[in-house]
Amino acid sequence: MRALNGIRLEIRRSEILGILGESGCGKSTLAHAILGLLPAHARIVAGEVLWHGRDLLRFPESELRTIRGREISWVSQQPALSLNPVMCVGNQVGEVLRAHVPSTSTERRERVCELLREVGFEQPTTIYDAYPHQLSGGQRQRVVIAQSVACRPALLIADEPTSKLDGLLRSEIVGLLSKLRERHGTAIAIITHDPTLCATFADRVALMYAGRIVELGNSAEVFARPLHPYTRALVALVRSSMVAGPSTREHFPRIEGESPDPTAVSIGCSFEPRCAERMEVCALRCPEDVAPEPSRFVNCFKYGE
Ligand SMILES: Nc1ncnc2c1ncn2[C@@H]1O[C@H](COP(=O)(O)OP(=O)(O)OP(=O)(O)O)[C@@H](O)[C@H]1O
Ligand code: SF4
Ligand SMILES: [Mg+2]
Repeated sequence: MRALNGIRLEIRRSEILGILGESGCGKSTLAHAILGLLPAHARIVAGEVLWHGRDLLRFPESELRTIRGREISWVSQQPALSLNPVMCVGNQVGEVLRAHVPSTSTERRERVCELLREVGFEQPTTIYDAYPHQLSGGQRQRVVIAQSVACRPALLIADEPTSKLDGLLRSEIVGLLSKLRERHGTAIAIITHDPTLCATFADRVALMYAGRIVELGNSAEVFARPLHPYTRALVALVRSSMVAGPSTREHFPRIEGESPDPTAVSIGCSFEPRCAERMEVCALRCPEDVAPEPSRFVNCFKYGE
């Protein structure tokens, strides 16, 4: 099966890019591909992942390891699993520093406390010695973020960093990421099911559907004037359910019809069976990305071939 197909994506310095789409559309696979963390049975058959002009796909694992965590870091979809239950959290944040920055244990402890304070802990020394099970879900997520920004990465990829959190904690974590971007110029790619989060927090948004980016543009423009029929259906649903609260994996706005079977080979546009605006050509071949406006592209025949 093709988990990703024809992805064209640029993440700009210091920007917040939202990657939005329903479950199974390939968001995490995209993050894993960028980070060189795909499972052994996955294959990249074509393409490049350029980091400062160099193709990460050609890097040996040893060199990738020096970039991952230091220049590009990530917050995984399962923060609880990324912390070691039998190690105090301060040492776990310190481990990242130890791997990338030469320092003494005293310097590391000071730096870890600074990082814990930066992610909102008022008593960092107490948190330093705590074990993951002694912290709440929101606190664990903060620790994972402290870990991921320990080396001041230029790019942070956060895979659903707020999905397990309730409303208030969700806005706190989003506020924290925003502050980190402002303070350190970190570019953030945030993967989410929540269109409202993208609309309020991201500078640009990439809409994914069945392994493709179907629309990408400035998020204010995309949500005010969506172009792709999938984005349009999604935005209409969000507007009609504004009072229902944030969208999550379980409550992603429900567009009529089923997502395509990822193992089936489709020759046409993968949204065609659900598309209210389909044309004859849509079932016959796959649309190319077209740019109806300078800052936006759409993968749809309606905007040219
Ligand atoms: N390790 C794997 N082995 C085989 N197929 C996989 C694996 N991981 C993901 N897939 C498949 O790749 C496709 C994309 O999955 P992915 O996890 O990237 O989606 P996602 O958008 O992150 O979904 P979610 O929002 O549920 O996290 C799916 O069809 C999924 O079943
Ligand atoms: S290419 Fe055709 S089927 Fe696909 S989204 Fe556009 S109009 Fe709909
Ligand atoms: Mg995922």
